[in-house]
Amino acid sequence: MAGTSDTESPLKGGNTTPVARAGSTVRRRAGPWTPTIHALLRHVRRNGFPLAPDPIGFDAQGREIVSYLEGDAEHYPLPEWAWQDRLLAEIAALLRHYHDSTVGFTASSAAVWQLAPRQPVEVICHNDFAPYNIVFRDRRPAGVIDFDTASPGPRLWDVAYAAYRFVPLTAPDNPDTPISDIRTQRRRLKLFCEAYGGIEKLEPAVHMAVQRLDTLIDFITSRAAEGDPAQRRVLRRGDVDIYRSDRAHILDKLI
Ligand SMILES: Nc1ncnc2c1ncn2[C@@H]1O[C@H](COP(=O)(O)OP(=O)(O)O)[C@@H](O)[C@H]1O
Ligand SMILES: [Mg+2]
Repeated sequence: MAGTSDTESPLKGGNTTPVARAGSTVRRRAGPWTPTIHALLRHVRRNGFPLAPDPIGFDAQGREIVSYLEGDAEHYPLPEWAWQDRLLAEIAALLRHYHDSTVGFTASSAAVWQLAPRQPVEVICHNDFAPYNIVFRDRRPAGVIDFDTASPGPRLWDVAYAAYRFVPLTAPDNPDTPISDIRTQRRRLKLFCEAYGGIEKLEPAVHMAVQRLDTLIDFITSRAAEGDPAQRRVLRRGDVDIYRSDRAHILDKLI
């Protein structure tokens, strides 16, 4: 098959899936949702969003094969350039571009989503639109990866989480983010919403960020309680404590 290679190298940085690069392809553990996600990736690429991986199929081990996107996902602590206003606006435009390309995606009735759809369904949310799932080239966003948890939902659900990550909407004690000044956070949230477009008021986005963090905390704690090793690691690392503190910051200072 074109683009395959005998040598594989592990790709680090994710929390959930063993990921390996083989030539121009990436191999990831597949799940029951993978055929639905591949249909989504085909749809968005056909509908003017070429920055998602090309879904190639499955290998002999049953892993999914997608195209490797040149560049680097960014991990915490982020480099200083990742906090510039220009990048924030580019990320918002990227999310808008992705969302718009999902409109009209009608998964077959056999569609399987890892996360339950959320009403009102406007687009297919990525559900983890964050620096570690965006590929950057020359300090510009050049690709979006890790669609495993995508599912139908409202635009604002993804806007709220991307804003939480990139504005950011985090507390002063969050070890990974340098911006906790309320005025700067408000200004950058406005910038993000304007660059996304069509968002009249900031309040609903802020409220949704709280809900989004609640859902994230629930997801980690319930999966860890079920024995999921990946979420157990995340819990042990202390992520949930950070999310709780950020949630309190949003409620106290930004609402
Ligand atoms: N299609 C891809 N192109 C380039 N790099 C990728 C691709 N898929 C994954 N990676 C790299 O592998 C890392 C982990 O992959 P990811 O799909 O995000 O796994 P996880 O579900 O564990 O978060 C990413 O941070 C990125 O560096
Ligand atoms: Mg990831």
